[in-house]
Amino acid sequence: MNQTVYITGTSKGIGAALADYYLKTGSDVVGIARSHKHQHPYYTGLQVDLSDEHALQNFEFPDPKPGHRLVLINNAGALGPMHHAGNLNPTEILSSFRLNISAPLILINRFIAQFGTSFPELKILNMSSGAGVHPYDGWSIYCASKAAVNMLTEVVRAELSVASKTHIHCLALAPGIIETDMQHQIRASSPQGFSLQPLFVEFKETGKLRMPADVAPEIAQVISQMDTYAQAFVDLRV
Ligand SMILES: NC(=O)c1ccc[n+]([C@@H]2O[C@H](COP(=O)([O-])OP(=O)(O)OC[C@H]3O[C@@H](n4cnc5c(N)ncnc54)[C@H](OP(=O)(O)O)[C@@H]3O)[C@@H](O)[C@H]2O)c1
Repeated sequence: MNQTVYITGTSKGIGAALADYYLKTGSDVVGIARSHKHQHPYYTGLQVDLSDEHALQNFEFPDPKPGHRLVLINNAGALGPMHHAGNLNPTEILSSFRLNISAPLILINRFIAQFGTSFPELKILNMSSGAGVHPYDGWSIYCASKAAVNMLTEVVRAELSVASKTHIHCLALAPGIIETDMQHQIRASSPQGFSLQPLFVEFKETGKLRMPADVAPEIAQVISQMDTYAQAFVDLRV
């Protein structure tokens, strides 16, 4: 059976590598981001700012081919400004939470409403982080966002179970430490706003970071077996 994979944040980093992987292995890919780099006959790019309230209110998925298995990967996310409470900007707080929390739930809500009764299998992967279970100073926005992503995953799984929707699956995944623009941003931050900044510089210097292209097939493997996970949260490092 063929599949359509909807991925947020395909212009770079992990999302770009996931789009590459799924295109190479024959899936239709719909990328959802503010910009797009893929040019492929099976790639559709939707230009959407997922931190924009109006865009989120009106979001609809383009229809896949009939009978396809469907995957939604809520990958787009941002650290937001790394400062201690007292030094944060309210506009940036609101915008980061829209991207990191509101967008995944709005897309899940829309995905199930639009396709839940008419397609044979739906899988939803929410990109989480170790920061969703460990507090780091300066990362209040990011840690709270990822903790919320973990909990919304648990709630959606409970709802699917209560409603006996056995053809729909949902999982949160922490990918490990991956060399992307997000890691550049962490290394470029100030230790005054994030005291562990030197540790992340050391991760880079001691070769602890993995590359997106190496991690994408592992994420796809987890997605292919999503129905077998008893727990809602998977950490690729464990
Ligand atoms: N890298 C890591 O070490 C790491 C570790 C744990 C978890 N994660 C998680 O993995 C996911 C991907 O991270 P990454 O490291 O690949 O990040 P990245 O390289 O910074 O890429 C982020 C992607 O999100 C998209 N995006 C950002 N703001 C957007 C907006 N307002 N609207 C639509 N799309 C937007 C970007 O596309 P545009 O700018 O073109 O819109 C880009 O494609 C995130 O959820 C992150 O929290 C990453």
